[in-house]
Amino acid sequence: MNTPANTAITEKPVTTIREIGQHEGQSVTIRGWLYNLRESGKLLFPIFRDGSGIIQGVVPKNAVSPEMFESIKNLTQESSVIVTGKVRADKRAPGGYELDVTDAQVLQRVNPDDPYPITPKEHGVDFLMEHRHLWVRSPRQAAVLRIRAEIIKAARDFLDERGFTLTDPPILTPAACEGTTTLFPVDYFDEQAYLTQSGQLYIEATAMALGKVYSFGPTFRAEKSKTRRHLTEFWMVEPEVAYGTLDDLMVLAEEFISFIVARVLERRRPELETIGRDISKLEKIAAPFPRITYDEAVQMLQDAHAKGLIENKFEYGGDFGSPDETYISSQFERPVMVHRYPAAVKAFYMEPDPERPELALCVDVLAPEGYGEIIGGSQRAESYDLLIKRIHEHELPEEAFRWYLDLRKFGSVPHAGFGMGIERAVAWICGLEHVRETIPFARTLHRLYP
Ligand code: 4AD
Ligand code: MG
Repeated sequence: MNTPANTAITEKPVTTIREIGQHEGQSVTIRGWLYNLRESGKLLFPIFRDGSGIIQGVVPKNAVSPEMFESIKNLTQESSVIVTGKVRADKRAPGGYELDVTDAQVLQRVNPDDPYPITPKEHGVDFLMEHRHLWVRSPRQAAVLRIRAEIIKAARDFLDERGFTLTDPPILTPAACEGTTTLFPVDYFDEQAYLTQSGQLYIEATAMALGKVYSFGPTFRAEKSKTRRHLTEFWMVEPEVAYGTLDDLMVLAEEFISFIVARVLERRRPELETIGRDISKLEKIAAPFPRITYDEAVQMLQDAHAKGLIENKFEYGGDFGSPDETYISSQFERPVMVHRYPAAVKAFYMEPDPERPELALCVDVLAPEGYGEIIGGSQRAESYDLLIKRIHEHELPEEAFRWYLDLRKFGSVPHAGFGMGIERAVAWICGLEHVRETIPFARTLHRLYP
């Protein structure tokens, strides 16, 4: 759609490269940037991008004025340009079309003495992360960001359509949710506050008001770990269900993930192809997902160690590290749901398994192809007495949790919820090595710029 401001830039009716196929044989105008330029004798082959796609233009020397030919010939990478030309179908062209350029209006030519730093040749990841504000223009990065947006929309549509109400928790909080070791402190008018680790505790309150709720927002972990799965700032979607149990939660999680993957396959196939994702792996993702207990998962790891398949000898009772999760998840073609971990390695708020109280009624969903945990969730401790005992055991400040304890005083019910890290989901669905490429501007242990 043409906004008034855009009409001032060009009088011509503009279209996008994505929609250019609807204009075969017609003259169209696109607004974008020069992606690359090849020259071959009396022909120029400028490649343009406009955010929606990429198209190659063809400029024969005798088809345009000498000034126009020179001005296109002098275009530098990422110069901004409004291009008019006739759309021609070409089976060999990447998008199926080429543009016979008749006019090009250059808005800003990038100075050739200070050229665009990211060339189509290879760059190291550190260099690219340092230029992330420009790197997002590359077709691969743009495709990842589109898929990210689709995953977020799918997650919200799924929950909205099932009667969940979005309730936004605060970002500034007085206390820990997931443990005190990864809190970011904030000076709050001389009071100590922290950036939220999870909206969970607050949406437990709104779940008691509205039944089925969810939150979606940024969460923070002052992780000192430098792995390909950890960010210090990441986005989490968290549903919470009053009267929900662990079994209900596992059904919700497998339907949620299946819905999201199906939606991405339906609407973002070209982007998956741009990234080079093996789509057949995603086509296998459908509920039900395999379910194994923590005990069974430990057995798998110990058997694998005995057979010399993995180095680490896993000790029963600990939490899984990234390599353990990688091994477990690589054994399945669908996400695997590992439930009932030892309460000792999990957060304070989890309901114990009535049959084995040393275990928590919790579940981690591990994505296949070695991706590991994308969802963590649990049934929540229901009794006031147990919860206050846990708060003391975890050395958490009772005062800050008074409101949370109220939820167990005034009509306490079984309830359950989970959190899915958007970046972990994007990394898996896109088949990326590292979560730093799944978010426009990643925040990690050593990165706060740009
Ligand atoms: O397992 P976590 O810590 O669970 C919670 O925060 C619960 N309060 C959620 C709930 O029950 N409502 O985190 C949930 C998910 C993980 O499975 C992972 O996908 C993601 O959040 N996550 C991270 N993603 C990127 N970087 C990090 N440092 C992450 N920590 C957790
Ligand atoms: Mg977890």
